Amino acid sequence: MEDRLLQGKKILLGITGSIAAYKSAFLTRLLIKAGADVKIVMTKAATDFITPLTLSTLSKHPVHSDVSSESGWNNHVDLGLWADALLVAPATANTLSEMANGACNDMVTATYLSARCPVFVAPAMDVDMWHHPATQRNIKQLESYGNRVIPVGVGELASGLVGEGRMAEPEDIVSYLADVFSANAEFNGKKILVTAGPTYEALDPVRFIGNRSSGKMGVAIALELASRGAEVKLILGPSRLQPEHSNLECIRVESAQQMYEACVSRYGDCDAGIMAAAVADYRPSTVSDSKIKKKEGDMSLPLERTQDIAKALGASKKPGQILVGFALETDNEVANAERKIKKKNFDFIVLNSLRDKGAGFAHDTNKITILDKGNNIRNFELKTKAEVAVDIVDELASKMNL
Ligand code: CTP
Repeated sequence: MEDRLLQGKKILLGITGSIAAYKSAFLTRLLIKAGADVKIVMTKAATDFITPLTLSTLSKHPVHSDVSSESGWNNHVDLGLWADALLVAPATANTLSEMANGACNDMVTATYLSARCPVFVAPAMDVDMWHHPATQRNIKQLESYGNRVIPVGVGELASGLVGEGRMAEPEDIVSYLADVFSANAEFNGKKILVTAGPTYEALDPVRFIGNRSSGKMGVAIALELASRGAEVKLILGPSRLQPEHSNLECIRVESAQQMYEACVSRYGDCDAGIMAAAVADYRPSTVSDSKIKKKEGDMSLPLERTQDIAKALGASKKPGQILVGFALETDNEVANAERKIKKKNFDFIVLNSLRDKGAGFAHDTNKITILDKGNNIRNFELKTKAEVAVDIVDELASKMNL
């Protein structure tokens, strides 16, 4: 997995009519690889340089280049409200001038005027157009509105001239956005421990007792926290997932005992812990050094209790520290979840009922209920695990008064 610097961010990309628009396909791919959901609006002139079909295929969303179309009015207001950031790249001298002056002649400028989110522009033009006092005045004007101007590159331009005016490289645009998001991130300076995945309890060198947890929910939470600025310690049991993010340290463990040790040595230093792992409650009492051979008749396995990691962390909790648990239940869901809040000293618990379709292990979706220690209960719709992670992290942010 790539470094998901823009995990969960909704980016509205506005493309205008510059030759640099040919790089928009690559920029779209990079934004998506960085974890962003990308929707695209274009000016008519931009469609001369790159086709909407290419961009809708890459972004997996319809691309709009007209304020109205056969199917009706393309709602630039909704798009502007949907986005976490509007990125106009490439931004031509003409579009910058329109934006600076409040003109709205096309989908990009109409969206710009109605967007409430942060706005980034990546100018692209020839050296003399860039240095013209009118362009420089427009840039200053946009900065005075709080818009961020991504520095232009220097080099050979489409005209053959050499100088300033090239659109910043797509990689640099992605890191510019990621830097701004992380500088303003609400979990900056917070350390959060997250457990995820199953545990494997060895029986002999080839066999183990495990469970069907995929690790998807815990990993989605860890990535959401990392993308919102937290320093995340992810203690991950055997899972096929390989999450990567510059704010995330992934510590791989196999057994409940290893997960326990990894958590106990780190939680003291953390502001919060989210216990999303499906930890085995029992393990074989003895682990054979060599493969156990079959014998005549049946066999029974003596099992012993593993450490309850959440309970141990709950007991060690310091004032101000937060602990979040999970409960996967089949019946008496709310009563069981409330019992676990008390038993393990959780601040809130995320309840999944296996009776809900699409909830629980291995699915890409989940349906949760959040119960807190003050007996508040909130039910959520069936959503993707990435969206559920946002709800859980929002709840944590509110409990941490962020
Ligand atoms: N948990 C843990 N360590 C364990 C077992 C569970 O940290 N050895 C955590 C899970 O990650 C989860 C919460 O405790 O956040 C609830 O786990 P669960 O096994 O459902 O709780 P129990 O009280 O052990 O459940 P039950 O009574 O249903 O067996």
